[in-house]
Amino acid sequence: MKQGFYISKALAVVFVFLAVIGIVIIISLAVVCSEEKAKNVGNAVTPIQSIRPSTSTTLWTTPSTAMMSTSQPKKTWNHIRLPMTLIPEFYNVTLWPRLTQPINGMYIFTGNSTVRFTCKEATNLILIHCNMLNLTLFDGHHAILTGGDGANPPAIINSWWEKDTQYLVLQLQGELQAGKSYSLFTEFTGELADDLAGFYRSEYTEDGEKRIIATTQMQPTDARKAFPCFDEPALKARFSFTVIHEPQFLALSNSPLAEGITWTVSKFEETEIMSTYLTAFIVCDFASIEVVEENILVRIWARKEAIYKGHGNYSLKTAASILKYLEAYYNISYPLPKSDQIAVPDFNFFAMENWGLLVYHENGLLLDPNGSSTQNKENIAFILAHELAHQWFGNLVTMKWWNDLWLNEGFATYVQYLGVDFVEPSWSIKDLFVVYEVHYVFGVDALPYSRPLSAKEEEINTLEDINGVIDAITYSKVQSFASLNNKNKIFQCWVGWCLTAPPDWVRLLAQAVNEQQSIQLPTSISDIMNRWTRQMGFPLVTFNTTSGEISQKHFLLDQKAIVRRTSEYNYTWHIPVSWMKSGILQPLGWLLNKSAEWVLANINVTGYYRVNYDMQNWERLLSQLQRDHSVSAGVQVIFGIDQTRAINKILRLDAQYIPITLALNTTRYLSKDTEYIPWISALANLKHFFLMFDRSEVYGPMQAYLRKQVHQLYEHFENSTENFKEIPSALTAQYSQRVAVWIACEYGLKKCRDLSSGLYKQWMDKPSANPIHPNLRSLIYCSAIASGGVEMWDFGWKMFRNTTFTAESDRLRYALSCAKEPWLLNRYLEYSLNQEYIRKQDSISTISYIASNVVGQSLVGTSFDPVGKLCSINYNKFAFGRYGSSFFLFSHIINKVSERFASESELRQLEQFKKDNEHIGFGVAAPTMTLALERTRSNIKWVNKNKQEVLKWFQEASE
Ligand SMILES: *[C@@H]1O[C@H](CO)[C@@H](O)[C@H](O)[C@H]1NC(C)=O
Ligand SMILES: *[C@@H]1O[C@H](CO)[C@@H](O)[C@H](O)[C@H]1NC(C)=O
Ligand SMILES: *[C@@H]1O[C@H](CO)[C@@H](O)[C@H](O)[C@H]1NC(C)=O
Ligand SMILES: *[C@@H]1O[C@H](CO)[C@@H](O)[C@H](O)[C@H]1NC(C)=O
Ligand SMILES: [Zn+2]
Repeated sequence: MKQGFYISKALAVVFVFLAVIGIVIIISLAVVCSEEKAKNVGNAVTPIQSIRPSTSTTLWTTPSTAMMSTSQPKKTWNHIRLPMTLIPEFYNVTLWPRLTQPINGMYIFTGNSTVRFTCKEATNLILIHCNMLNLTLFDGHHAILTGGDGANPPAIINSWWEKDTQYLVLQLQGELQAGKSYSLFTEFTGELADDLAGFYRSEYTEDGEKRIIATTQMQPTDARKAFPCFDEPALKARFSFTVIHEPQFLALSNSPLAEGITWTVSKFEETEIMSTYLTAFIVCDFASIEVVEENILVRIWARKEAIYKGHGNYSLKTAASILKYLEAYYNISYPLPKSDQIAVPDFNFFAMENWGLLVYHENGLLLDPNGSSTQNKENIAFILAHELAHQWFGNLVTMKWWNDLWLNEGFATYVQYLGVDFVEPSWSIKDLFVVYEVHYVFGVDALPYSRPLSAKEEEINTLEDINGVIDAITYSKVQSFASLNNKNKIFQCWVGWCLTAPPDWVRLLAQAVNEQQSIQLPTSISDIMNRWTRQMGFPLVTFNTTSGEISQKHFLLDQKAIVRRTSEYNYTWHIPVSWMKSGILQPLGWLLNKSAEWVLANINVTGYYRVNYDMQNWERLLSQLQRDHSVSAGVQVIFGIDQTRAINKILRLDAQYIPITLALNTTRYLSKDTEYIPWISALANLKHFFLMFDRSEVYGPMQAYLRKQVHQLYEHFENSTENFKEIPSALTAQYSQRVAVWIACEYGLKKCRDLSSGLYKQWMDKPSANPIHPNLRSLIYCSAIASGGVEMWDFGWKMFRNTTFTAESDRLRYALSCAKEPWLLNRYLEYSLNQEYIRKQDSISTISYIASNVVGQSLVGTSFDPVGKLCSINYNKFAFGRYGSSFFLFSHIINKVSERFASESELRQLEQFKKDNEHIGFGVAAPTMTLALERTRSNIKWVNKNKQEVLKWFQEASE
């Protein structure tokens, strides 16, 4: 299920950007068609009942209006950033989740915490993050302050909870003294909700019984929902966790168990110094398998059934060997004594890198050798490598504030490729970088309202901003730095940066570069880098072979779009240009304004830019492709990656920069191609044509054309894999085989549809023996359900409800959205909003699947649009989510539903929707709303301009 919403971070890609001798500065572009951080829709938190004795109260409102005159300027507690007067050193936290019995219909946890901190600057104010916790009052205040070093602490005179900034505010009678340390004790009760955030509960069924576990997800700002803490990444401390639980459960945390578990108290060793967002504790009844790899205990935890069936075996082997690889790569020993990986049934992300206790979506960790596809396996390897890479980069070394999240993710994304290549060398995963990258990143970053990669620290100053940085750009246009010869030096610099303020990585990098005498840079490193990180977008580099000039220009999908964000660099970049002339690699040059010469540029994708040529050169390249794309002539080395790139570039440039038919012409040679990379790249770019025209008269000829083009590919696999019973051995061949089935079935090749219906019926006759290979299941199910009626659908639904294997249930969940009958889709839409049927974490992606279906799109659209019920039921519900992240997933729906919009009436519909909901606000989804509107406007223009020509082209080409 690579298509659609549920694409893993596996589709991340690294771009080598500046290839400079000695030091290689890498701009890695991780494509997130994945969202590691795709938060699910948080339910509005239900009002919770007090179970505390009468000493306990909540102070959920800001009291003491006398102290809080509204006319006063912004107070310290209205700032999202802590004042840095108090630096935490150590937390002693005890938590007690009540898993066996809801109290007044609510699952709760109780706890207490003592945090010891040092005062850096005298202050009479304590601010500490706290959210959705009921705090016990002591002498009328929410905490007890004591002094370390015999210091006598000033009395608390006033305390309250500041809702917007989520602080517990304590005003003191006198000042805390600089250099002295103090301790703050709090006691609290919280709800163990099913909201997938902070300390929450997850449910599953085993042996016909409902089971409940307690687990955590803190990043970015939910540790404060589990215990009061200084919840910023730079405020690292040691943690000592004690978790109390019933004897039938066990507890896990970042560190190993410190003392033998007495039957209900699990006390953990003190942690290393770490950030609050990386803390984790889990109470469950799972089973595990383990291995000790060079003194590191590596364990895989999951539901007993999954472990007993061996579904954790692949992860165990892979995690252990990736850890070993990473130790060597970083040249720093793994910093902790153990590494636990746990698969949690309800989990909103693919995975979370909590230090020493990594949490995964079941799909990200569990592999059934008989039921998983190659894609599942690839995802697991990628996710493991990514999260384990964070154990050093991100956890040991941490960004100071969320504006630099991209450094963190960029580096992990880069390293994950190295890790996967190490454990699965036969996959040649590096060849897929380009495929995984091009389609998405350039698309997003080519919009006039994209954003620069690096925000300024002060630009990230609301909770919504924090959640907002966890977006496509962070993962997709991430830049990281490494050095081939010298990586450890850079890494150490980063360690230095982390431990010393200010985080001037540019300076540190420049130092490292200066030590490499051989590097010739056209200007300072900071000037080069800032242009890439502080400007949104990327350049289009045009090679004019007639005049011999090379020039650059800010690349925008819509050339006439107005770019409102100004740039101090005027949207020009220092571009390292590598190019080939007659097959010979030319020395690296730098382009700021002009340079010279030409041919096939951007060799092996070393630059984050697109390339355009003059017509003559395009035609030469194209005729070369069509004649024989594997043999060189004139232009050497047009194959594999380069060939793909040529196609990608042309199609995305489309009518803006070159005639649209030239772009379409590049897909003609696909009929002879059986390679995965060219196919998937062309398809990704044709997607825009499908979306714009699959509801119009262009669809017929377009369908006929694709059917014609895929014919040979389909027959190739029909013959070589015994009519799709077998699977080729190479990874990319397996993926080509999927393309064959996908396109042939989707665009109506009869024998493909017959094949899928036949196999599906065979399965219906004997559900215990599925005849379809796991690699092809999602496609075959989808095709069979699309052409079949209610019987096929109901069988799929039954199998979905019955399976306990997440990879299989996800395939079915996707395939059920392929139905073509509106009433089936409508019913499915209803189901997707019912938690009894579809897990909350999966609800949005299911709706997105339905919305991707040309029939389903308008159903989701009308039910969510201004007049519809999904909107009125759920938009409000989404909007009431605790914070912006719930909008984040809601934005997927807006995005999907409006994807095909290309008419005036659809534009008006969207505008109306925006207007009607403006009073609630869109939170993190606001940019998506803007995107949807702008995209619709540009689609209208595009369709008007190109429709006739495209129609004519497909008509002719399909003959
Ligand atoms: C917290 O206090 C409020 C107000 O008294 C109460 O409604 C709620 O149930 C309490 N929450 C918990 C988890 O006890
Ligand atoms: C942590 O708190 C527990 C009880 O809350 C106490 O027994 C223990 O001594 C404390 N540990 C430290 C290191 O302060
Ligand atoms: C914290 O809670 C635990 C469990 O209820 C209790 O044993 C411990 O004494 C409490 N710590 C303090 C300092 O009150
Ligand atoms: C290339 O240069 C020639 C000669 O200066 C000019 O006429 C032509 O328009 C240029 N083509 C492109 C695509 O810039
Ligand atoms: Zn990550």
